[in-house]
Amino acid sequence: MNFYIKTYGCQMNMRDSDAATAMLSERGHTLVEKEEQADIIIFNTCSVRKKAEDKVIGKLGFMKKLKRKNPNLILGLMGCMAQRLGDELFVMVPNLDFVIGTDQLHTIGDVVDAEAHKRHKFVSTEVQKDVLTEMGKHYKIDNKTSEFVAIMRGCDCYCTFCIVPYVRGREKSREIPDIVEEVKELAEAGIKEIILLGQNVVAYGLPKVKLPLADDNSPFADLLEAVHAVEGVERIRFASPHPAYFNDKLIKTMGQLPKVCNNVHFPLQSGSDRILKKMNRPYTSEEFIEKANKLKKHVPGITFSTDIIVGFPSETEEDFNMTRKVFNEVEFDNAYIFKYSPREGTGAAIYEDQITDEVKEERNKILLGDLKTMFGRNIQTDVGETVNVLVEGVSKRNSERWQGRTPTNRVVIFDPIDDIKAGDIIDVKVNKATAVTLFGDVV
Ligand code: 5AD
Ligand code: SF4
Repeated sequence: MNFYIKTYGCQMNMRDSDAATAMLSERGHTLVEKEEQADIIIFNTCSVRKKAEDKVIGKLGFMKKLKRKNPNLILGLMGCMAQRLGDELFVMVPNLDFVIGTDQLHTIGDVVDAEAHKRHKFVSTEVQKDVLTEMGKHYKIDNKTSEFVAIMRGCDCYCTFCIVPYVRGREKSREIPDIVEEVKELAEAGIKEIILLGQNVVAYGLPKVKLPLADDNSPFADLLEAVHAVEGVERIRFASPHPAYFNDKLIKTMGQLPKVCNNVHFPLQSGSDRILKKMNRPYTSEEFIEKANKLKKHVPGITFSTDIIVGFPSETEEDFNMTRKVFNEVEFDNAYIFKYSPREGTGAAIYEDQITDEVKEERNKILLGDLKTMFGRNIQTDVGETVNVLVEGVSKRNSERWQGRTPTNRVVIFDPIDDIKAGDIIDVKVNKATAVTLFGDVV
């Protein structure tokens, strides 16, 4: 049968869709590019903000038409929303055929095959430990240069705004040899860049640990070393980390391993200590800045991206200005700025003093303006420099030029040279930078 998967949300969902594709392909089903061609449509969903859930419900409404045309069409939901709402979804969306929770991903082949034979509503959202054993699955695509590797799942942090610990469950980590084995296979298949994934990736191997971490305790740093030793791997990135887990050992290890890219996601959330406390984020703005400075010192040329929530309950103008101050002091190349969205069951959903949409919108705009100025200024420092580039392929905007990325995660556009291919690593001399992109010539 033909299947189509639409993915919402984070990189872990992208990886899970890839794994689902691999499992369904192994059973002889075929991935198609359009919903209209599919006998099975699967939505891999996100619950982090209400908007993400509303989008899926809206989209499933549209599916009625497709189901009328093809009464045998199978509609399924997986991911965080599937886990959160379970069989309530059949009431909300009568067209739906199956719901697979986050820990049940490995059952997708059986569920789809069972659906194809006897049509009934099927839900499985049981929490399971052996989901880890299925984490190494990939769908092989030629010309890929990067691949996600899930190293842990779940989160024990319970930030008060966040639904993740409720839908992804407790932290569970894979063993280093198991991960290294997978990375070796990927490197042998030509993958140059490994992106280690986890809901709180730097808490790898640290279930139930009490913060602050001891300076020398970082199983994640040990994992970086093990992955670094794999021949053929040229670059290592990771997502998404929590700042409180960056201790001396991790920061120094990052600086000592040349394949570990000098770009890190460093989620601030807020620059007000009062709000950070209410968010259950175990750091102050001063500690955040200190850690960023340590990273700048030990990992030369490092660039940062971040997440910020505006309009968290009770956030005053003063709180927001503190966020703005830290944001501009640390300096980010990229920032995901979110308007606070109350999630049922999380700590902050019942806080008083919810902030109006207008105020959230205004604060969002201000930070986006700051980001534009800050990145626009910082990217100019690459002009005249020779940068190392992992070639991704033909430029998305101009088919005559090619594009790649620096270890600092900046996009570089250049004229192709003979025999160039995705996955090559080249040097490019930068001669121009626009607001977000570098342009140069292959050296
Ligand atoms: N409202 C707005 N943003 C949120 N995030 C998580 N939960 C919420 C919420 N309820 C943001 C955080 C997190 C990112 C993945 O999504 O900034 O780091
Ligand atoms: Fe959510 Fe906080 Fe865990 Fe990140 S660290 S997944 S924001 S609870």
